Amino acid sequence: MYRSQKLALRYLTAAATLFGVMIVFGLLSSLYYLYPSMLFNVFNFNMAKTLHIDTLVIWLLMGLIGAIYWYLPKELEHEIEGIWLAELMFWIFCAAVVVVALVFLFVQTGSSNQFSLWFINQGRKYVEAPRWAAIGIVAVMLVFSYNVLATCIKVKRRMTGILWVLAIDLVPLVVVYLDAFSADTNMSTDLYWWWWLVHMWVESTWEVLIGCVMAWVLMDVMGTSRRIVEAWLYIEVMLVLGAGILGLGHHYFWIGTPRYWLSIGGFFSALEPLPLLGMVVHAIYDAGMHRMKTANQPAYYWITTEAFLNFIGAGVWGFMMTLPQINMFSHGTQWTVSHGHFAFYGAYVCGIIAMLYVAKQKVSGVAYLAGNRWKWGFGLLNLGMVGMVMGLLLAGMAQAFFGRAAGGSTLMAFTMASENPWFVSGMYARVGFGIIFAAGYVMLIYDLLTAPAKLPIPASQAQPEPA
Ligand code: HEM
Ligand code: HEM
Ligand SMILES: [Fe+2]
Repeated sequence: MYRSQKLALRYLTAAATLFGVMIVFGLLSSLYYLYPSMLFNVFNFNMAKTLHIDTLVIWLLMGLIGAIYWYLPKELEHEIEGIWLAELMFWIFCAAVVVVALVFLFVQTGSSNQFSLWFINQGRKYVEAPRWAAIGIVAVMLVFSYNVLATCIKVKRRMTGILWVLAIDLVPLVVVYLDAFSADTNMSTDLYWWWWLVHMWVESTWEVLIGCVMAWVLMDVMGTSRRIVEAWLYIEVMLVLGAGILGLGHHYFWIGTPRYWLSIGGFFSALEPLPLLGMVVHAIYDAGMHRMKTANQPAYYWITTEAFLNFIGAGVWGFMMTLPQINMFSHGTQWTVSHGHFAFYGAYVCGIIAMLYVAKQKVSGVAYLAGNRWKWGFGLLNLGMVGMVMGLLLAGMAQAFFGRAAGGSTLMAFTMASENPWFVSGMYARVGFGIIFAAGYVMLIYDLLTAPAKLPIPASQAQPEPA
């Protein structure tokens, strides 16, 4: 195993651990909706939610970085350049995450001054980490980019299509993150730039990264030919960028930006499901071509689920409320939260879990990874997530119909909608299905940590040689 792959294992372990921390704070956040005065002024909802969504961003980033450190040396058949620096950065990254989490837990917020901005909390959703930590994340990503690019340049004769896509994607990955730093006192301009980060990361830059990871995993677990995964990757990237960049406009409807964003945002973001549909067709095509033969059943099921739920959670759920005519009513309700959960889960969580199983197979040295235990994690996590997003969708629709469309968006209407039985049962459903989700997480980790049975490869699953 390359040193870079050992580092990848550390990144994947850290990601899986933070996934658990994130679930704890998600469950806690959901309880405030049932017991609003819970922990009042000791640990308020805003801090629980901050820890929930910040750990989300960090563990997914760690998972993606881990996946790339895993496949890069394999792809180039060469150790990563400057690997010692990457190893050092990993520990600095982990230490920074722990310090920020402790500050969020015990200091929480400060006065509105430069000190708070630098050392306590930047107060910008998803990137609340204080500025020193944000600079640390830039440093981690710069070292990561250096590792990738320097290795590609060193062994350039082995450059592949996937690596070209990855290398070019590193530019927006770092540049767009710099948006986490602006602290404009005008809320409209602040939000304008902040969306560049939030939207461009999850709907463009990360979507391209996960496309690369999906290409590698498909080749790995099914033996799909490189020619085919690369052709699909190019199509997906073209469509993701074609629709996703101006699709940014779907966040510019109500923040004080010019009216033309209504049409630009509506039109381009409505096209955004297309590349995601492409990924589904790709996954089905590959599965059909290889008659579902795979040497790693859990990774295969998770990567296929990624393709489907990315399309449904991001594409279909996003499309539902992306036209301004609908978004006017659904904006910022639990409908948005429903989509946010489904999209992140489908697009990234499932992909990174597939990656965890790819790593598990290599570490445990079995030629065929299957069995039944992984199915518990798979079943419970998917059931928990689908149940939760369905509950939130109904709750959000109740808010949109009763609070906005019928009630006229008054404070009174908002309060009435919050007492509507559809809304209230959605909040209970979130807690219930959240617990199922958490149980799925425990089963996933249990399965990952226990040694797999050494099964002989069944004849029906024997892999053909990659073309
Ligand atoms: C046990 C499972 C989980 C529970 C109970 C839970 C609960 C919550 C709650 C209560 C909120 C705050 C919503 C609000 O502001 O009204 C939230 C926000 C959020 N959660 Fe979770 N969550 C869970 C798992 C996840 C997972 C697995 C992901 C990602 C895949 C995720 C991503 C998010 C995101 C992106 C937000 C911000 C959404 C927004 O403000 O629009 N959560 N979650
Ligand atoms: C991987 C892909 C995606 C992820 C992870 C994702 C995640 C999210 C999250 C977390 C939010 C809530 C942001 C906030 O206010 O805090 C959001 C909002 C939104 N997303 Fe997505 N999304 C994805 C793709 C899409 C696509 C493809 C569409 C459209 C077809 C879409 C349409 C929207 C819209 C319209 C909103 C604003 C909702 C509102 O007005 O409250 N998203 N998305
Ligand atoms: Fe967006």
